[in-house]
Amino acid sequence: MTNAMYREQILEHYKHPLNQGTLEKPDARHHDLNPLCGDEIEVFLKIENKKEKNGKGKRDESGKTKPNDAGNAIIADIKFTSQGCAISTAAASLLTESVKGKTLDEVKALTRDDVFALLGVPVSAARVKCALLSLKAIKSAAYAYLGEKLDEKRD
Ligand code: FES
Repeated sequence: MTNAMYREQILEHYKHPLNQGTLEKPDARHHDLNPLCGDEIEVFLKIENKKEKNGKGKRDESGKTKPNDAGNAIIADIKFTSQGCAISTAAASLLTESVKGKTLDEVKALTRDDVFALLGVPVSAARVKCALLSLKAIKSAAYAYLGEKLDEKRD
């Protein structure tokens, strides 16, 4: 896609964001805000254990079923509510869509570059916090579900 197409995509996700809304009885949720502008986001996650989903659990090379650990659980559904600019809303729309079906361990491993790749256009220094707000919220919710805490310097 060209830069112009990415810009068009951002505008489209801003006007018609995917996964906007809330989930009843979410397994994890997190509210966050961009300290630079005060804009907010709240994410709601439905988390399923793979074992529950396919009834089998994960098998290793020998064909034995491995015990399912929490990091292996997947994001079955995700919604968000937000108040923010085009970049932050488009990033939330694109990122929530891309994490569906990912394991919590995969979500923990997501980086700022993954978000920039989804947006596809250079993000100015002033807009980096906007672009990364949803990533921080989603990762914080995943960490909280696992009983861990997001370390912004490390994660
Ligand atoms: Fe507030 Fe972008 S200006 S999130």
